[in-house]
Amino acid sequence: MTEGWPLTNGAIVVKRVFIKTWGCQMNEHDAERMAGLVAPMGYILTATPEDADLILLNTCSIRDKAEQKVYSDLGRLNAVKAARPEVVIGVAGCVAQQEGRALLQRSPAVDLVFGSKGIEHLPALLTEALTTRRPVVYTEDPIGLAPTLPADRRERVRAWVSIMEGCENACSFCVVPATRGRERSRLSQEIYDEIASLCASGCREVTLLGQNVNSYGRTSSEGVDFAALLDLIHPIEGLARIRYTTSHPNAMTPRLMETLARLPKVCRHVHLPMQAGSDRTLERMRRDYTFSEYLARVGELRRRLPNVALTTDVIVGFPGETDADFRETLAALEMIEFDNIYAFKYSKRPNTAALVLEDHVPEPEKDRRLQAALAIQRPITRRKNDAFQGRVEEILVEGPSKTDRSRLMGRTSSNLVVNFDGPPTLIGRLVQVGVIQVKANSLDGSLDA
Ligand code: SAH
Ligand code: SF4
Ligand code: F3S
Repeated sequence: MTEGWPLTNGAIVVKRVFIKTWGCQMNEHDAERMAGLVAPMGYILTATPEDADLILLNTCSIRDKAEQKVYSDLGRLNAVKAARPEVVIGVAGCVAQQEGRALLQRSPAVDLVFGSKGIEHLPALLTEALTTRRPVVYTEDPIGLAPTLPADRRERVRAWVSIMEGCENACSFCVVPATRGRERSRLSQEIYDEIASLCASGCREVTLLGQNVNSYGRTSSEGVDFAALLDLIHPIEGLARIRYTTSHPNAMTPRLMETLARLPKVCRHVHLPMQAGSDRTLERMRRDYTFSEYLARVGELRRRLPNVALTTDVIVGFPGETDADFRETLAALEMIEFDNIYAFKYSKRPNTAALVLEDHVPEPEKDRRLQAALAIQRPITRRKNDAFQGRVEEILVEGPSKTDRSRLMGRTSSNLVVNFDGPPTLIGRLVQVGVIQVKANSLDGSLDA
């Protein structure tokens, strides 16, 4: 269902779509895919909901705060709908998958609900909503291979490429297996073709996306795992860099580490969520590894990939986490010295195994633990960044700098932003940049240093 719509005298009527996205990079890429799916129906992107014919809220449910943001936006959109009843309002993403039809009760403005598992059906669902003028809800659970979908990408030099959907694990805190469904990988040849076509039109860096990228292929019969996929795409002409997120510690096998180390286009950055440093907590989180197993993986990674940047996710205040358990997480942060961490307060999520756990950590204590974790990490990150002072780094030039459009920006292989002066003709090229100043969240560089 991707033919132009509606057609008048053979011409496609231009309509506007506004998409607001919360959540992870997969969700951001889903927004690009939704834009790509409705483009043949005549929709172009707009930056404001006020002039949109179609408004899509692409939602996240990872923590309660993310979910609540959607409801406050829906409240505001009631006024838009009252003023312009013809506008179609859709809720997509993980809250849509989780809540389904209940969203219609929450807000009378909603015309369309489709979950993260169903974005490929957007054109058909939208056509149904437009023709019947009745609310349409789609929350089916797909099986088989993940589809290849068009995408309307915002950037040229870098691109997200989804290699798998869903998650086959069952971490007790996590809503993702419920919202994104069973793990489905895409065919390796389709991934190859997508990257080759991106690179033919100027893309130089891809980020392979999945909730568990390194278990790619686990549920498909193709016999291509993540290491083999990297080997397959590595020679693509024009491709300069390969990133991937998120990796699961248990799927970080020696074979994969050997591949990461051997392939020069693979960036020296691994995001490897640890979640906690206490075995008691890890067990109740159902992470399926102990802290010492995690530590061994980190040691092996650092041995095989010298200078690799390691980042992680940490949850504080998981039910039953004692002060002693939490101190083990702090000790882990001190011992491992990650380049950076993302720390979150535990949030109770629907359809998760941790719901039945008791002994919740009071909110002020979660706050204290969050601050304690960040306070441990801050000087470590600072020290790691300071080590870049005076180094010459290879940068992929992405475009104008965010803070000063007359300058350029790019990233180190380890994913640090570098701002520097240079001509726009360098955009899309790998350049050697000397680091002359380390700032709080970026580096300042020079082509002459
Ligand atoms: N697939 C990735 C994680 C995806 S979710 C992995 O397994 O590593 C991103 C991060 O959100 C998680 O790593 C976790 O730290 C955090 N998170 C997930 N559920 C949460 C919850 N209920 N409360 C707080 N943080 C949560
Ligand atoms: Fe969630 Fe665990 Fe799957 Fe990551 S591996 S998406 S944390 S269930
Ligand atoms: Fe959020 Fe869904 Fe991503 S819950 S973090 S948008 S997978």
